[in-house]
Amino acid sequence: MTNHPLFAMAAAQSESNHSGVPEEGAEGLVAEARGAWVLYQGCWLRPPAAQSVMIVQEHFEARPDDTFLLTFPKCGTTWLKALAFTVTNRSCHAVTGDGHPLLSRHPQDLVPFLEAPYRQLHPLADLEKLASPRLLSTHMPLTLLPPCMSSLGCRIVYLCRNPKDVFVSLWQFISKVNADYTMDKAFELFSDGVCPYGPIWEHNLGFWKKSIAESDRVLFLKYDEMMAEPVKHVLMLAKFLCVPFTEEEVSRGVVEDVVHLCSFDKLRSVPVNSSGVTDRIGGVPMENSSYFRTGKVGDWENHLTEEMAKKLDAIVEEKLRGSGLMF
Ligand code: A3P
Repeated sequence: MTNHPLFAMAAAQSESNHSGVPEEGAEGLVAEARGAWVLYQGCWLRPPAAQSVMIVQEHFEARPDDTFLLTFPKCGTTWLKALAFTVTNRSCHAVTGDGHPLLSRHPQDLVPFLEAPYRQLHPLADLEKLASPRLLSTHMPLTLLPPCMSSLGCRIVYLCRNPKDVFVSLWQFISKVNADYTMDKAFELFSDGVCPYGPIWEHNLGFWKKSIAESDRVLFLKYDEMMAEPVKHVLMLAKFLCVPFTEEEVSRGVVEDVVHLCSFDKLRSVPVNSSGVTDRIGGVPMENSSYFRTGKVGDWENHLTEEMAKKLDAIVEEKLRGSGLMF
């Protein structure tokens, strides 16, 4: 699978940076490439991620007590990982302790990423060694998730964000390593749904509907709302993760301590997050600090023209119409 010819073709197309003619391929891959992405089962992915997704779909063995942190890229994955890790591990790692793992490890590395690039080199068997209940993360849309996750009743914390802020965050992130990813080019692609794990509206809608149908299994969160009321959301998260705060913890201010430890300013200042370079995407080493840019709601206003904002709003509104989901 790792040397699947369709991936080689898609990778070549992606490198030559032109739209390929859609062509039905094996295993659900449509060998259509745009920008750096290939379309796999209706979802745009970079070839290394698509390969890893295929491996996960075939070989990942879920457990009924697994919880998945599920995000579209740039919606606050790093923050959610920090919060969920801190909340679930607070009995062994005191939130205010000097030795807390968040002070020495990047939040991205504290919760394993299911479709990590090069899964062929980093076997899923490593995840089998983890003790239950496991906390895992993924960016996969509902349609790509391995069926065992649903049949076993695994729980999902889904975090989404205003698509205009997601676009700006993504463009800033990718353009650091790809000079061709200009604002105009990125916007055209994003508006067509072409970006990692895109289209974003399909991603959001899938989990929105699931959270309505199975509210005990899917907790649907919005970045903007979490930023506005972090304490309320940490309480909600802990309850959903089956580790609710006791009254005594609440009165001691532990919830506020969690919010502080995982805050943008605190995490950004930790040396392991403010320095160094790591390849978490697959062949694209990124500065650890690039996961901490502004951490603001509404930063799109500083980057998008009025016309762009209106266009994206109109697309998103049309795609989400009737669902009850709004940004
Ligand atoms: P901006 O680029 O808008 O600043 P992800 O973790 O999914 O890659 O998302 C990255 C976005 O989350 C970035 O947004 C980043 O600054 C923001 N972020 C990272 N850590 C955060 C935190 N602790 N609190 C709030 N936002 C955070």
